Amino acid sequence: MAWSSPSNIALIKYWGKKPTQIPCNASISFTLTEAKTTTQLHFAPRKDQNEWINFLFEGKESPSFSSRIYKTFESWDRFLPFLHQFSFRIESENSFPHSSGIASSASSMSALALCLCEMEIQLIGGIRDENFYRKASFLSRLGSGSACRSIYQQVAAWGRSDAIAHSHDEYAIPIEGIDPVFHNFCDTIVIVNGTQKAVSSTKGHELMNSNPFAPIRYQLAESNMEKIMAALRSGDLDTFGQIVEDEALQLHALMMCSSPSYILMHPNTLQCINEIRTFRADTKIPIYFTLDAGPNVHILYPQDKQTQCVKFIHEMIMPLSEDNYAIYDRVGMGPQNLKG
Ligand code: PMV
Repeated sequence: MAWSSPSNIALIKYWGKKPTQIPCNASISFTLTEAKTTTQLHFAPRKDQNEWINFLFEGKESPSFSSRIYKTFESWDRFLPFLHQFSFRIESENSFPHSSGIASSASSMSALALCLCEMEIQLIGGIRDENFYRKASFLSRLGSGSACRSIYQQVAAWGRSDAIAHSHDEYAIPIEGIDPVFHNFCDTIVIVNGTQKAVSSTKGHELMNSNPFAPIRYQLAESNMEKIMAALRSGDLDTFGQIVEDEALQLHALMMCSSPSYILMHPNTLQCINEIRTFRADTKIPIYFTLDAGPNVHILYPQDKQTQCVKFIHEMIMPLSEDNYAIYDRVGMGPQNLKG
């Protein structure tokens, strides 16, 4: 069986967690299209107790990825009790270069969780209904928190929020009823620096436990969630953009006031932000930035402004990128089942 699953970009950021992978505030994201992982899962009854998982990333064995997959399988074992009865060969590929600085944990964990839920259907029966996707989201969350949002098309939310009916801390839910302007919103991911982050997301979440601004951050995230939900439903681009940019800068401000403090932005990240704000002020085009936990810039704009925005990106932003590399992505239809 095989699934492809896309990355996602958070609009309201998840930053800070409780055991086990429970977010301290609710988050919401766009599910992307081009930045994705394709995973094939082969399995056979396990003969040798020393052989369990053979993981190949882009055709090669990868010890660091393999050990993460092992740990994740151990955490999934309670929910997929057949896991220990089989040996697995997992082949995974990303649509983007591994060292580009684009996080692949959301796309890879969600693709793998979907393959295993598919395997469960094959072994035990069932259909790809709401519960199937909910379980895939639940398992993805255990693998990598934000991965649980990649299971759903267009817009997904994870974490309990008064602004979202049926929202849950243990899995993401699809958000319906958003304004059509967001159905194909563009996200150009500009690689400002592709080297590995100095401080991992895992460490970053942990530092929130002692961050003096954490309680106010969680309150602000909830009030931003209320505002962005209204903006997503009504198509209010001004409010949408203001919240999205506030969230990106708040995420990085939290890093700067952690103890020890750290900075993941690069000088060119700030330069990109300034260029985007100047272009917006000059042209009145609704173009905004967001960041994840790294230096690369996501540039968000409506599809009907693509021509002007792409021209601006080529002229003003690409000179600030590393190796002239960007992915022209957009909001998309979520994971795809590739076989059977
Ligand atoms: O899912 P993690 O543990 O890699 O954390 C993701 C954190 C952010 O990307 C910064 C925000 C988010 O909600 O995706």
